[in-house]
Amino acid sequence: MKKTNFLIVILGILFSQAQAQKFEELALTPPMGWNSWNNFGCNVSETLIMEMTDAMVKSGMKDAGYEYIVIDDCWQVGRDSSGNIIPDPERFPSGIKFLADYIHARGLKFGIYSCAGSKTCQGRPGGRGYQFQDARQYAAWGVDYLKYDWCYDEGQKAEAAYKTMSDALKECGRPIVFSICEWGESKPWTWAKGVGHLWRTTPDIRNLYNAEINWGGLGIVNIIDRQADLWKYAGPGHWNDPDMLEVGNPGLTHDENVTHFSMWALLAAPLMAGNDLRSMDNEVFEILTNKEVLAVNQDSLGNQAIRFLDMGDHEVWVKHLANNELAVCFMNRSEVEWDLEYDWKRINIYHLGAIYFSKQNYSIRDLWKHKDIGNTNEVLKEKIPAHGLIMLRLKMSKE
Ligand code: GLA
Repeated sequence: MKKTNFLIVILGILFSQAQAQKFEELALTPPMGWNSWNNFGCNVSETLIMEMTDAMVKSGMKDAGYEYIVIDDCWQVGRDSSGNIIPDPERFPSGIKFLADYIHARGLKFGIYSCAGSKTCQGRPGGRGYQFQDARQYAAWGVDYLKYDWCYDEGQKAEAAYKTMSDALKECGRPIVFSICEWGESKPWTWAKGVGHLWRTTPDIRNLYNAEINWGGLGIVNIIDRQADLWKYAGPGHWNDPDMLEVGNPGLTHDENVTHFSMWALLAAPLMAGNDLRSMDNEVFEILTNKEVLAVNQDSLGNQAIRFLDMGDHEVWVKHLANNELAVCFMNRSEVEWDLEYDWKRINIYHLGAIYFSKQNYSIRDLWKHKDIGNTNEVLKEKIPAHGLIMLRLKMSKE
């Protein structure tokens, strides 16, 4: 081999390693952002996305850590004779690059949607057969995040199909977070680490507290139940995704919104708001931007909570945080208030780091009241509303 060819080969290897490394370094905490699907469905346009971008900044969501603006299904209408994907010219007259630039200029990142099948779930052109071409196009547009769905899969094997798109993204020359959306059907938690950064674990979320719909739609607690055994698969750069948030969409009460958001935080779930950011009221804003709850979600260890106690209608969930702190939720699934009396010393909570309350005293902070409420030497007495919860952060006391 000539010297120059040899050099080119070495540079090529080094370059692809650098790209792969970048992919590995993405989403070290659960991604946070906004996605159009839950509230707008197919009704997307460049005006909507620009307005949502402005609202993300103006409302304070950006300051709270929300970063990605993602257009879900229905932005695409066809392919040209060379196979290039064509955005809807009526709804996106200025093109996708224009939108990406608009979003980047406001300090945010841009996400887009496609599908591993031949068509998207709404029957738009899918990505099958065009993975590398699409990835190059996304990179040229300035895409930072790709959600990849699983309709019209035509008998493909999920692992192989997503691996192809993952390879395409790793080679496209731009770091792009890869969100796998095959609804947990092939147990992606067993194969998707290193392929994507997050993978859906269930069918689609609905704005209902407790419901299983015949086409597969699920309510909040039904989704939570399906996460309980998956804690060991989550960690920095590889997250279980229990679907996007319904907080602020009609259908859930205040306490149900608090439960939904707290549990997603505890489960180390990606936090993709799905409401109309332009018109959300203060109550919804306070939930979505609760900094103490967000800090639990974004904790550097990346642990997913475990269901420590399952007493039927009443549950205790625990997430082990950095510095041996703990986040603990007492969750009331019943229709009546829970008159909680909890003796920390009687039931030692231990998980991963082995924490024993009988030996150590912890200070307790209530993350929704934003108040210190005592310590684990005392019996915890709280009234927890129907479908509500309390969320606490425990820290070892110095004395
Ligand atoms: C599937 C996905 C949803 C959404 C729609 C769009 O149902 O699971 O999150 O992307 O497709 O058609």
